[in-house]
Amino acid sequence: MASAGIQSLSVRREDEQYVLGIESTAHTFGVGIVSNKPPYILSNTYARYTPPKGGIHPREASRFMASQAPRVLREALTEAGLSIHDMDAVAVALGPGLGPCLRVGATIARALAIYYDKPLVPVNHVIAHLEIGRLTTGLRDPIILYVSGGNTMIIAYSEGRYRVFGETLDISLGNLLDVFAREVGIAPPYVVGGLHQVDRCAEEGREILDLPYTVKGQDVSFSGLLTAALRAYRRGARLADVCLTLREIAYSMVVEAAERGLAHTRRREVLLTGGVAASPPLRRKVSIMAEHHDARVGLTPLEYDSDNGAMIAWTGLLALNSGITIDPGSAVVRQRWRPEEVEVPWYYKIFN
Ligand code: FE2
Repeated sequence: MASAGIQSLSVRREDEQYVLGIESTAHTFGVGIVSNKPPYILSNTYARYTPPKGGIHPREASRFMASQAPRVLREALTEAGLSIHDMDAVAVALGPGLGPCLRVGATIARALAIYYDKPLVPVNHVIAHLEIGRLTTGLRDPIILYVSGGNTMIIAYSEGRYRVFGETLDISLGNLLDVFAREVGIAPPYVVGGLHQVDRCAEEGREILDLPYTVKGQDVSFSGLLTAALRAYRRGARLADVCLTLREIAYSMVVEAAERGLAHTRRREVLLTGGVAASPPLRRKVSIMAEHHDARVGLTPLEYDSDNGAMIAWTGLLALNSGITIDPGSAVVRQRWRPEEVEVPWYYKIFN
């Protein structure tokens, strides 16, 4: 709690509010501070867990987070030039995510809220990805392609909530790429942001192989593609060709599902967000599809594609101003918290 002693350096403008947000759903312990006045995001600091090998081990990741939390929290306040006393609320991602990791953020948020007597705001991590996407791209009412290590969803707002129009029936797009890269030995243990190893390897590809393309209605399925890609590689196909095929098929599948969502909802905007949204080839495909439909495209800036505290703080601010807070005693984590379970009364409200 050493950060509480930091003197406030910022001058609060009329009606200005500050919210501190904590993210700890998977690999990132992030703290962000936002204001309801431009430039909105005042700080966004984080520590990212990279396992020595394999995927994320939740308990290891949570231990890492607990060890990094004081530093990350202190840096977020210093960067914003604010003290914890300046905050109007503390927001926290209570789910969906990995239990041990979620509990680190929830415990810290509850402690801050109780000790400093601040309202506590529960935030759904998926909705935070969508809201930071809307804030940073300026899109108002888009169809959203949300792709990450944990999720692959096509989402749009309708009648008070975000609705999932399509999603993966098995593994996520990020998981498909990460597992393939690990299995064929081209990945560092865990990849976050930017050009994925599969994207990079695909640049050398020359030939598209015959691998399964599975879009079922509005949904996609990747597990058959993963198995077939690994089999092709083990049977001697050139790795670059397998990567090229995997990339082309997987990205085309999610873009097709998003295109169906766009046509179905008759939106004029397409938002791409989430950890895998940082991939330049995927960004190109989404842009081409949107252009084809005369729709505006919004690509969330790289810094806010991967998990971050600013998106939790921003969504917390929106929720706070709709009167949404939670008693710290009831603020339990929800590992499988679906976005459509959350009421979104702030959707059409605009901050100036
Ligand atoms: Fe995420």
